[in-house]
Amino acid sequence: MADSHGLLAGKTGVISGALDPNSIAWALAHAAHREGARFVLTNAPVASRFGQLDELAEATGGSPIIYADATKDGELADLFTQSTEALGGPLDFVVHSIGMGMNVRKGKAYEELKYEWYLKSLDISAVSLHRMVRAALETGSLSDGGSVLAMSYIGAQRIFSEYSEMGDAKALLESIVRSFGYRLGRRGIRINAVSQSPTRTTAGGGISGFDAMYDFADKVAPLGNADAASCADYCVTLLSDYARMVTMQTLYHDGGFSAMGISDALVEQMTGQAIHEDA
Ligand SMILES: NC(=O)c1ccc[n+]([C@@H]2O[C@H](COP(=O)([O-])OP(=O)(O)OC[C@H]3O[C@@H](n4cnc5c(N)ncnc54)[C@H](O)[C@@H]3O)[C@@H](O)[C@H]2O)c1
Repeated sequence: MADSHGLLAGKTGVISGALDPNSIAWALAHAAHREGARFVLTNAPVASRFGQLDELAEATGGSPIIYADATKDGELADLFTQSTEALGGPLDFVVHSIGMGMNVRKGKAYEELKYEWYLKSLDISAVSLHRMVRAALETGSLSDGGSVLAMSYIGAQRIFSEYSEMGDAKALLESIVRSFGYRLGRRGIRINAVSQSPTRTTAGGGISGFDAMYDFADKVAPLGNADAASCADYCVTLLSDYARMVTMQTLYHDGGFSAMGISDALVEQMTGQAIHEDA
């Protein structure tokens, strides 16, 4: 783990989406704590059954836990009202690390999407970002100069086999980032999406062919796949004042994958021949 640089000293926020130690938000909460932030942890009420958040709350200095379904406006309003009360005033950051593809999970092909599930997937994975930011604004819970972050994937721009409806959800998520970014800019608040490498988490593992997507990206990216801990380190810089002029962006945290075409490693795998003598 990296050393603390106090990047978030004195800052407060809400971090959603930590389900278990594999979650990207779990690593992010550890990194934010290391950098001096205080925050509320939130997840869907159903996540309380697993009880793992208690462990994270304790490890991050007794962070309050407030459960809220990110598709329910009333619960989100309560989340932000209670968070500002618990942390002593408006928040400096909000992290959206939420996603679920119902059709993906249930193995329904893109051509045969069940629309009820599709709309639910878009609501959980994308519209919930709009709902969260709106609830934070309507309850007066976001400080001027604050930072909002959402987690995305390059499936928003390109097709990755069975990523299916989640590609649509991420495209919508990134569009909401831009649409809100324009409006939040008036108050110096920024909002960005971090487009992360395939990462072995509960949400990631729900995608059929995930291991192949993971291995492919790992072979193509010059730095290999970025893990959750490195993602967390990058995210804390975006929550800090050092990134105060960055907004409305999809920022790739993927070891260089998004700028690549084909790598030697992949050519070698396909041809069965080494490109370099010393390879
Ligand atoms: N794992 C990957 O390969 C990968 C890659 C790029 C981006 N992402 C994104 O990162 C984010 C975090 O996912 P993860 O990979 O850490 O998996 P994860 O399963 O650990 O996290 C997903 C979280 O969403 C929460 N959630 C689901 N429905 C909710 C609801 N209605 N209200 C509130 N919370 C709800 C879950 O409880 C869980 O904590 C997601 O947006 C995901 O799409 C993941």
